[in-house]
Amino acid sequence: MSAVILMTGVGSYLPKNKFSNEDLSQFIDTSDEWITKRSGIKSRHFVSKNELTSDLATNAALKAVQMSGLNIKDIDLIIVATTTPDNTFPSTATRVQQKLGAKGIAFDVQAVCAGFVFALSVASSMMKDNHSKNCIVIGADSMSKLLNWEDRTTSVLFGDGAGAVVLQKKENLDKKFNGWGILSNVIHSDGNFYDLLYTNAGVSLNQKVGFIEMVGKEVFKHAVEKLCSSFQEALDLCNKDISDIDWLIPHQANQRILSAVSDKLKIKNERVISTVEFHGNTSAASIPLALEVAISSKKVENGNIIGLQAIGGGLSWGSSIIKFGKPKII
Ligand code: UT7
Repeated sequence: MSAVILMTGVGSYLPKNKFSNEDLSQFIDTSDEWITKRSGIKSRHFVSKNELTSDLATNAALKAVQMSGLNIKDIDLIIVATTTPDNTFPSTATRVQQKLGAKGIAFDVQAVCAGFVFALSVASSMMKDNHSKNCIVIGADSMSKLLNWEDRTTSVLFGDGAGAVVLQKKENLDKKFNGWGILSNVIHSDGNFYDLLYTNAGVSLNQKVGFIEMVGKEVFKHAVEKLCSSFQEALDLCNKDISDIDWLIPHQANQRILSAVSDKLKIKNERVISTVEFHGNTSAASIPLALEVAISSKKVENGNIIGLQAIGGGLSWGSSIIKFGKPKII
């Protein structure tokens, strides 16, 4: 018996501290003009001294659960996509579980900026395999902890934040749910591109955390190509066409990537959600953060077909197509 996985709640959280391009140019050799022209970013948020990735994640999760209408006691699975865990172990998801007072399974997924689409795919498979009925998928990152302020080519691009969604499984016996929820997930990785985007240290390498290193131009080219190819795969899998997509919500790395993807996929720019200007690249958090903005600004509405797509270190990338929300009960 097949099942439908609905997306019924979305929440997000940004740390209070906001930094404009001008603020950064006080201590880095950069300018608002360069950052805006090359990336579209104007400002980003950074965690304060004692603010942890699990704090951002917990705040986002609480809002998502509230929107879904469920209670914390209904949640039986928490997956956190993060590259910046509170501790090397245990998983940040178990800390979030503790903070929420939730029960069930909790673990982290590591696919860097593609983490949210990877976590969504894992959650969807686990729910179909009867491991969970009500799940929270969270993308949360404190990328500021991985920035080298001596490296202007990467440090101006990233920000901190978290976003979360609630997934609810419904058996297909209930015909009103037909055609709703997660319609397709596609994920890929290719370790031949490991050295294009990585941290220059690590636990097993040298017991350090390290800073981000990126071959920006190469990653840019892969991003446009792989976001588009995986999106087409996801459309094909659920027998949809680009014209069926109400809103495209890509990973928010660079406005020029968003524009190139919109041209290549032939979807109007107005249908592509862009929050990179205010968030910067928040890694695994970027898609659910952008989705929350799209909902609160009354763009994404119940019943819309939304497309998600992301790429990050690994390289890892993927796309999902979702009929958002749930049918109204009359
Ligand atoms: O989230 C994972 C996925 N990540 C991405 O998708 C990122 C993909 N890459 C990119 O978004 C772009 O490649 C960047 C925004 C990172 C860089 O843009 P670019 O057009 O590829 O610039 P560039 O690296 O070729 O640098 C151009 C120039 C260089 O000067 P010269 O060599 O031409 O004299 C840099 O030194 O800009 C200089 N530059 C800067 N100048 C002022 C680099 N960073 C800065 C800076 N401020 N922050």
